[in-house]
Amino acid sequence: MHLPFPMLSPALWLDLLIVLPSVTSIHSLCPSLCLCGSRSLFVNCSGTNLSSILILPPLATEFLDLSSCSLHTLPPLHNLWRLQTILLAQNVILQVGDGYWKSLRSLQILDLNGNKIGNLSVSFSLGLDSLTHLFLAHNLLHCISKYSFQHLHNLELLDLQGNLISSLDSGAFRSLTKLRHLQLQNNLLQSLTNDDFSVLQRLEFLDLSGNRINHLPSGVFTPLHSLTFLNLQNNKLRHLRFQTLSSLPSPGTLLLLSSNPWECDCDLQRMFGKLRSLQRISLQDGEDLNCAAPSALKGRALTSLDTQLCVAETVTVLMITLTVAVTVVGAIVTAERSRKKGPRNQGNEMCGQE
Ligand SMILES: *[C@@H]1O[C@H](CO)[C@@H](O)[C@H](O)[C@H]1NC(C)=O
Ligand SMILES: *[C@@H]1O[C@H](CO)[C@@H](O)[C@H](O)[C@H]1NC(C)=O
Ligand SMILES: *[C@@H]1O[C@H](CO)[C@@H](O)[C@H](O)[C@H]1NC(C)=O
Repeated sequence: MHLPFPMLSPALWLDLLIVLPSVTSIHSLCPSLCLCGSRSLFVNCSGTNLSSILILPPLATEFLDLSSCSLHTLPPLHNLWRLQTILLAQNVILQVGDGYWKSLRSLQILDLNGNKIGNLSVSFSLGLDSLTHLFLAHNLLHCISKYSFQHLHNLELLDLQGNLISSLDSGAFRSLTKLRHLQLQNNLLQSLTNDDFSVLQRLEFLDLSGNRINHLPSGVFTPLHSLTFLNLQNNKLRHLRFQTLSSLPSPGTLLLLSSNPWECDCDLQRMFGKLRSLQRISLQDGEDLNCAAPSALKGRALTSLDTQLCVAETVTVLMITLTVAVTVVGAIVTAERSRKKGPRNQGNEMCGQE
């Protein structure tokens, strides 16, 4: 049986919520505009215009799909204490009120992709202690405060791609010790600090592509013991220090670095040479690294310049090698000469001893 729930005032709605558990079975509560399954533990209202309608999901709902419902604000969902997944993607939600999730103690997956959220309050994560997956992609976030994610101790996946994030507060991710997957691509980040990823020892996947990163401090990846994928494509990197990558302690990482404005000089050439010899790091797009500077080399592939960039160095090295070689040969010749003389001398001595 489906009960229709037309527009109710929030007060009445809350009253109903308090009364209902004692008077009805779970199944009868499937909102008329929604599809319910598995004894109403699964409620799907996706695609329904709920901008001016309050729906009343069964209190035992575990899965609630409210994506593409034209929602401007979050619906009142207090007391859905069994809710594990809520999909709120592709709505027009501007803000998440303080403590909104407080009673949703079982929530594991929260999808807020494709809304218009411009900031996260400092108590955004209050109550989200069980959350493992948080999707905030394609919103209007411009910075991440150090408090916004402070209660997300169990978070494994955080998707922040496609926002306007230009800065991370120091310690923004400091509670996320279980994080394995972090998507920060297509934001406006310009730089990172050694603190940013300091607790992310379990992080396996880090996508920083499509930002404006022009500098990476040499210790920024040092804490990432489990990293298997690192994408830095499409940033503003001109140079990169070998130590920044070599200090990555993970036993095996796939690395992407193309579409950066590389300044091709001998240092860079050598850096990539050393990187190639590092077994732990596998550069996936080494063939696609193109020079942006100097102007004479603009657009050239770095791999095509093997012999050119370090010519001066090569000449120096050749000179040294030659000098060493001459010295060695000289020494050998001298030694050979004295060896030829040697036995006679030795013989004489031995004879003298006899
Ligand atoms: C919910 O229903 C919509 C359309 O009715 C469908 O596209 C969507 O896949 C459903 N969601 C889930 C999680 O099954
Ligand atoms: C949703 O419904 C409201 C009120 O009924 C209406 O003003 C709005 O245009 C509708 N939105 C969409 C996307 O249909
Ligand atoms: C956060 O965003 C909302 C809605 O966009 C806005 O009203 C509010 O002033 C913002 N708060 C801060 C601290 O920027």
